Amino acid sequence: MTTWLPNISSSSDPIYLAIAKAIVSDVSAGRLKPGDRLPPQRELAQALNVAIGTVTRGYVEASRRGVTRGKSGRGTVVRDLAAEQPDSRLRVGPGGGLVDLGTNVPIHAEAPDLSKALATLAQAQDASRLLHYQAPQQDPRYLAAGAKWIGECGLNVGPESVVVTAGAQHAIMTILGALTKPGDLVYADELTCPALFEVAQLLHLRVQGIGMDEIGLRPDALRSACRQRNGQALYCMPTVHNPTSTILTAERRQELAQVAREYDLLVIEDEVHRHLAPGAAAPISQTVPERGFFIAGLSKAVAPGLRVAYVAAPPFAKEQLNDAVAASLVMVSPLTVELATMWVEDGTARLTADRKRVEAKARQALAREALGDYSYRSYASAYNILLDLPEEWKAGEFANEARRRGVALATASAFSVPGCQPPEAVRVSLGGARDRSELREALAVIAKILSDGFPGRGTRM
Ligand SMILES: Cc1ncc(COP(=O)(O)O)c(C=O)c1O
Repeated sequence: MTTWLPNISSSSDPIYLAIAKAIVSDVSAGRLKPGDRLPPQRELAQALNVAIGTVTRGYVEASRRGVTRGKSGRGTVVRDLAAEQPDSRLRVGPGGGLVDLGTNVPIHAEAPDLSKALATLAQAQDASRLLHYQAPQQDPRYLAAGAKWIGECGLNVGPESVVVTAGAQHAIMTILGALTKPGDLVYADELTCPALFEVAQLLHLRVQGIGMDEIGLRPDALRSACRQRNGQALYCMPTVHNPTSTILTAERRQELAQVAREYDLLVIEDEVHRHLAPGAAAPISQTVPERGFFIAGLSKAVAPGLRVAYVAAPPFAKEQLNDAVAASLVMVSPLTVELATMWVEDGTARLTADRKRVEAKARQALAREALGDYSYRSYASAYNILLDLPEEWKAGEFANEARRRGVALATASAFSVPGCQPPEAVRVSLGGARDRSELREALAVIAKILSDGFPGRGTRM
């Protein structure tokens, strides 16, 4: 059993609902793990000084939202959705397996030719040097490749500004690990990339959600947050935000840069999706190079298994970041940095990113065909759509129903900063299907669930 206690002190919801929401949000954030048993209702009622019926109602609501289930003799347990098998009669996809539209997959079918690259590497006389201890962050060729890729992502910097990290998540950890201390506050969109939560938890940082609108992060909301509390950094995704796919206008970026300057914030600009909207406005870091950290990752543009991302860092922070890379993993694997360098140098990275964008656009057209009658947020060549569910659905229930029918989805609560209210929405990752035909089938499953409506509660249409 877990010693878990819900944090409901700042909630204005009725207590039972605050308990249910705390369970959902702690499951999303990994503070409650699959198989964890919630405290017995009587004990929790005593701890919170509320009636036992209030706790019962909260537990029932959490279970209705799909994250827990009551087990006879075992109390209320956090569900292990990954282990729960879908209904075999309803599975789609070749081989009848689960189609994973829950992970932000950058269309694996469009990947560079690894065998060819490895053969080229194997023929190089000095390939064995990749097995030695070394510092990829000091190799001028690797840094030049980083500067080239960052340039292709819209920011012109020299190799001296580049830090090589093991993927964008590691870049976020490196920046925050080097420049913040436990207890510091990081601002982020109220829906943001879960990578930030994982890093914040590890580094004991607080995250505060900032309001968004149809363009994305709101500078006025950031300013008012800064007036109230002294945050150290802003984490944002200006181009094709995950999960809403918003793209900040040039004006928004300027305004955010202005607020960052006024309140002395570091700006962590996560641009892993930049290749999906190459015409997007100039990076925020261009306006505030003295505080901007521009992350140009290769996971979403080339291949996630490479584990390489480049950071353009201000001069004051460069060595601190390199020290943090060394502290966390000694060095980024030279073999993968070499591969990344080859692909950036010979244009394979650019070509792959372009091909992924073209395929993403085709997949968006399929989503429009299947779900065009419903409300969703996306961008014409984004990997994901955020499907706002009709009123009768809770996101957890919808995701469970989709999983039962063979399609994995992510609920918006996985992206919601603790303390913010997630919408009843699910993120559908179009890149997760192996090909368009598998995607068409999976989207048809989602459309069917929507048209069937919630069992017993009727349809919206
Ligand atoms: C916006 C964003 N940043 C970072 C990451 C993590 O990327 P990486 O695989 O390079 O660590 C993801 C992964 O989905 C993401 O969507």
